[in-house]
Amino acid sequence: MSKVTVVGAGNVGATCANVLAHADLVRDVVLLDIKGDFAKGKALDSWQQAPIDSYSTRLTGTDNYADTADSDIVVITAGIPRRPGMSRDDLIATNAKIVSSVTKSIMEHSKNPIIIVVSNPLDVMTYAAYTASGLDKSRVFGMAGILDTARYRAFLATALDVSPKDIQAMLLGGHGDTMVPLPRYTTVAGIPVTELISDKDLDAIVQRTKKGGGELVGLMGTSAWYAPGAAAAQMVGAIIRDEHRIFPCCSLLTGEYGLKDIFLGVPVKLGKNGIHEVLELKLNSDEMKLMNTSADHVKKVIEVYHSLA
Ligand code: LAC
Repeated sequence: MSKVTVVGAGNVGATCANVLAHADLVRDVVLLDIKGDFAKGKALDSWQQAPIDSYSTRLTGTDNYADTADSDIVVITAGIPRRPGMSRDDLIATNAKIVSSVTKSIMEHSKNPIIIVVSNPLDVMTYAAYTASGLDKSRVFGMAGILDTARYRAFLATALDVSPKDIQAMLLGGHGDTMVPLPRYTTVAGIPVTELISDKDLDAIVQRTKKGGGELVGLMGTSAWYAPGAAAAQMVGAIIRDEHRIFPCCSLLTGEYGLKDIFLGVPVKLGKNGIHEVLELKLNSDEMKLMNTSADHVKKVIEVYHSLA
């Protein structure tokens, strides 16, 4: 009898709610947006899809936080998306205010929810939600790694002409151009990917992955939604089912990878209590260097965030 709230009925939030409903895992999905009628419309449209696609999850739309009361999980997608020429970091001034105030409003109506942040710049918005919520670090984290590895896996599937189902991959770092896809931790049906593709082709895919979000902004004039919405829904599913799945997620680090006081993408075990464990990979010196470069970048954006307060 779980209840999931998705804040933000834009493309990502509406897609997340719709994918969640299709998974038929929870009793209620509440879609909240300051544009209340818009959220109501999106939820009603999704609910009218239920008889066709056969799910029982009730979708409702609202602009009233009272309707989110006693949510088990809250997905925050609120904020503005980037437009061509913008980096995710350009969104910080607007989105930091939005994410902090959304988190506070959520906490007025739910005691101990798990919060999944999707708004950009992701790593710093997760930090903002964590700070505003007062929740334990295991209960506030961000969605980026599933999306970024999905892009990486999709590019590999095309290059190798294999099903994306058979591609497993891990990725570290911030959700930006400094992210760190890990070829050494990438396999195709258990076969190390390095045995199947040249270094040059693999590197081109790694570089394309890093700019994967920007490629879509360039193509569509706004940021992506199908894969981001589905990725957030997959995290919700792992929590509801207490699956203990290992996903790259944006988590608070408290000494892991030699880093602390920073939210950054790392492999975590996801289950009913949120993050049950952060996994520390034995990185080689090149990988560690890339991770530190990414951490330095995110730290700079955290400084910008603090300077806004
Ligand atoms: C992207 C946005 C969701 O990477 O950050 O498409």
